[in-house]
Amino acid sequence: MPDVPIDTHPPVTRRELLAGIGASSALALLAQSSSAEEDLPLSSRELWGWVRNQQVIDPDLVWLDTGRMGPTLRSVLVAEYRAREALNLDFNDYLRRSQSAEAVASLAGRVAAFVGADVDEIALTSGATAAINVVTGGLELAGGDEVVTTSQDHPAVRAAWAQRARRSGIVVREVPLPSPLTGPEQALGLIAGAVNDKTRVISFAHLQFADGALLPAREICSFARQRGILTFVDGAQALGMVDMSLGDLGCDAWVASLHKWINGTYGTGVLYLRRDLIDRVAPLEADGATANLAGGIEPGDPRGDWPTAMRRYGHAYHSYGPLFQPLAALLDLHERLGRSRIEARVRELAIYTRLRLQAMPGIELVTPGAPGLWGGILSLRPGSTPATDLARTLASEDRVAVGAVHAPDGSGDLLRISTHIYNDHDQIERLVRGLQRRVKA
Ligand SMILES: Cc1ncc(COP(=O)(O)O)c(C=O)c1O
Repeated sequence: MPDVPIDTHPPVTRRELLAGIGASSALALLAQSSSAEEDLPLSSRELWGWVRNQQVIDPDLVWLDTGRMGPTLRSVLVAEYRAREALNLDFNDYLRRSQSAEAVASLAGRVAAFVGADVDEIALTSGATAAINVVTGGLELAGGDEVVTTSQDHPAVRAAWAQRARRSGIVVREVPLPSPLTGPEQALGLIAGAVNDKTRVISFAHLQFADGALLPAREICSFARQRGILTFVDGAQALGMVDMSLGDLGCDAWVASLHKWINGTYGTGVLYLRRDLIDRVAPLEADGATANLAGGIEPGDPRGDWPTAMRRYGHAYHSYGPLFQPLAALLDLHERLGRSRIEARVRELAIYTRLRLQAMPGIELVTPGAPGLWGGILSLRPGSTPATDLARTLASEDRVAVGAVHAPDGSGDLLRISTHIYNDHDQIERLVRGLQRRVKA
């Protein structure tokens, strides 16, 4: 086997893929193209068709639920399989090639460059939830310290802060944010109004999971910094959808899913901690590598030399490396496609969906319409038809998968439509027809 890091294997050809995994006719159909390295089509029309061919999605299914899960690419699954194979073939060789300080720095460095951070500030995790818990559980806070959160935070964030409050007596002040927001200043004003001299952290979602509102993250972070308050941003729904960078956001801690809008393997996420915050966030899963104990790690275990955040919080990579090893090539593909072009396509499809749905009797949109205040998620109340039943019927009868989420204000369930680059206008028309048939005013 060549002595190269696992993630730089040459791209897999279609022939190899079919031979390697025993092609069923469905797989043969899906495997029209598997290489992330081939030249990209020049025209937008061909490009997005090409993108759809890379994705492992049942060709009959319209997937408008990337907010829950973004199907990955065939080349990612094959690279994951290859890494698992290498792990089993010769574990020492696998460790040397994929878990050495150089290999981990290379992978974490690629993710860091993509999000606009330093390599020591990034840890790979099993998802956003795991990364959230590192921050909420490990951040140095004393009893009586206050954390300002919002009613629109994801349950994973709300539950994690609630648990911290129960365990260490911090106070969580939850700001009710309405849907739809009227403007960015409304969110900033409500959050600012909840701050007092005990506030240590402002915790909010960059793009809200239920109503799809895009908060003025940079302004909130800048407001907090001027008052010496830390900011913790949940970027699970933003990374891969909006063209963002942490340098621009200016937050202290940030998390994201890699299995939503980035379309990484299911079970992957990322944590960012600003360099000077790392010492103030205790690792929840302690091991010999975490503390860099003398004699604490077995001979040959490379973790002691990993970049700082990976060493302290990157346990997932140690156990589930093959899930993460295809990431560098995947992020390269995002950049070759163009992050601003991806965002533009996501928005184009979301705007088209809004235009088709806003006039439909019975439908009430809860995603704000002001430009810049939303992205690729459009949420609505479907008249008197329960959203959860509607989502189930759309999936089973029309093969259109959309999300159904509880509105955080307890006002019932919402239908959540996510548009990503592997969707197209015809698919949205299928959704529209399904809604026209079923939504009762
Ligand atoms: C805003 C937000 N935060 C956190 C999460 C949890 O993400 P993960 O599945 O990566 O743990 C989700 C999942 O839907 C989400 O939408």
